[in-house]
Order: sequence, then C-alpha cells, then structure tokens
Amino acid sequence: MQENQTRERIRFRDEGPETDDFMAEVVENLSRERKTLPCKFFYDKTGSALFDRICELDEYYPTRTEIALLERHGGEFAELSGPACHVIEFGSGSSVKVKLLLDRLEEPAAYTAIDISRDHLIDATSALAGEFPELDVEAVWADYTQPLAMDREKENGGRRLGFFPGSTIGNFSPDEAQGFLERSAETIGAGGSMLIGVDLKKDEDTLIAAYNDREGVTAAFNANLLARINRELDGDFDLSGFSHDAVYNREHGRIEMHLVSERDQTARVGNRRFDFRAGETIHTENSYKYGIEQFQGMCREARYEPVRAWTDPDGMFSLHYLDVA
Ligand code: TRP
Repeated sequence: MQENQTRERIRFRDEGPETDDFMAEVVENLSRERKTLPCKFFYDKTGSALFDRICELDEYYPTRTEIALLERHGGEFAELSGPACHVIEFGSGSSVKVKLLLDRLEEPAAYTAIDISRDHLIDATSALAGEFPELDVEAVWADYTQPLAMDREKENGGRRLGFFPGSTIGNFSPDEAQGFLERSAETIGAGGSMLIGVDLKKDEDTLIAAYNDREGVTAAFNANLLARINRELDGDFDLSGFSHDAVYNREHGRIEMHLVSERDQTARVGNRRFDFRAGETIHTENSYKYGIEQFQGMCREARYEPVRAWTDPDGMFSLHYLDVA
C-alpha cells in the first residue's frame, strides 16, 4: 500500500502525554478562582484541522506574512546556517512552513518534528518524507514544554537549527516564554541556531479581527476545547451555553481568548462539577505581541545572541535568527 510505504520512511518516537494528564490539568484549571484551560489541548484532530483553516482566513494576517518572509529571506537562512543542518521544529503542526526552509537550506541532513497532536504529526511528516527523499525524518510525539529525550543525544547528527514559527512563543506567558527559550537553547546546544517567528504589537482593531473572524472559525476552534472534554473526559458541557470572545489587554500587550458562560449553569467533567455564573469566562489562550528590541532582550536573557531580524514592509510580523552562545 502506498500509504504504508511512505510511513516507513519516518522514525516515530512516543513521548506522548497520558490521558490522565488531560483530566488532571482540566480539573486543576477549572478549579481556579479565574477559570482557565491550557491552550495545548486545542490540538486534537478536529482542533488541528480548524487551526489550519484559521491560517487561511483573510483576517488572520500572521501566517501569510510569515510565509512571505520565509520565502523572501531563504537565501540568508541558508548562508547563516551552512550545509547539512539538523532542523528541529517545536510544534510542527502540518509542517507547511518548514518545507520553505528545507527547500532553501544547503542539503539539510535531518528533520525532527515535535508535536502534541499524534495523528496529525504522523500524517504531516510522512507526506514530507515523501517530498524530501534524501532527508532523515523523525517524528516525536511530545509536549515540547517538557524535557525531551533528544536533549541528551547531541552526539549524533549535524549542527542543529531550531525552528519555531507561527508566533507560538506568544501563547506562553513572558515567564514561560523565557523558560522555553532557555530549554530550546539547551536542546539545540552550543554552536547551533534558532529561527523564530514573533507577531508584533499593532493597532487593536487589526489584532481583534485576527482572533474573531467573521466566519466564526476561531469561535469553533475555541469551542472545540469543550467538545473535546465532552468526548474524551466524559464531560457534559452545553456548547450552546458558551460564546467566543477575543479582547486586547493593553496592559499586558496580549490578545486574550475566552469562552463566556451565557447564563448560570453547571457542567460536569467525569465525576467533578463546575459552576459558572452568567458572564463568567474560561480564559483559554493568550497571544502576546512583542516589539523587536523587547524580544531580542528576552533572547539575550536566555542563552541566545540575536544575529538578524526581518519584518515585512508594514511591520506586522518578525522573524529572528539567533545563535546559541
Ligand atoms: N500562535 C498563533 C497566535 O497566537 C496561532 C494561534 C494559536 C491561534 N492559537 C490560536 C490563532 C487561536 C487564532 C486562534 O496567533
């Protein structure tokens, strides 16, 4: 079978999270005074497909802006990172953007894709392996905010080039972002580099439209978190009782996504019950926006030395090339 042949070309490593962790984290986060849900749980199969649709929306400028930057500056990435790199992507999703990078690098040796969405990861890396027959492709099913086995295995393989596009760094709090930068520098190791995409501060209307599209795809993406709890954790959330909201928090420089309870209600998750007042929200995601110098300052606090930064002509989005000191 064609499909099996392609699948044999990837190595798969299971460092995947347990279902128990999902339950424990949901209960812990819904038990707080201000209810939250961790955004990494957005990405089951349905959520990953919805996210791919968000990336194609008119209002959602980050994806197309970042892709244009990756296309425009590919020659510079190749020149900066040299031949036979081992590319490591944190949160590889559909592995679309990394192909632009792999196309331009000088004979890349290996690609390791790390993602929390298991089936999506296997499908995407299998397809990629078919398109890059010379490349050694590894799929690691893991939560990359946790320590990885590959941190210990730096002997094998070439110079490491980390890749973290999509402004996913903005979905961490500043402290978590700092922690991610430190850990990723550890994973990449001395002599390696990192290419990272970061969304920039801009006018509020543009930001809010990007997270509250007319078609309601982002709203469906947000609501899928509750649907997933219903499916996987024996929950009974009434999806019509919660609505999507995106607001810009100027003080913190972040977009916040919320699920707003339309009325007083109670929802069950397994054998636990959670009460919601009308208007009470579950805070499901933050998307922090940075300035170029502000972000470079954070990198220097980790082990990174900023080498070059690029933006589009309208100053919407930035790409940063960093060396591990
Ligand atoms: N990291 C991107 C961002 O913050 C993509 C993203 C994550 C996103 N979750 C999202 C986009 C939810 C829209 C809605 O922009």
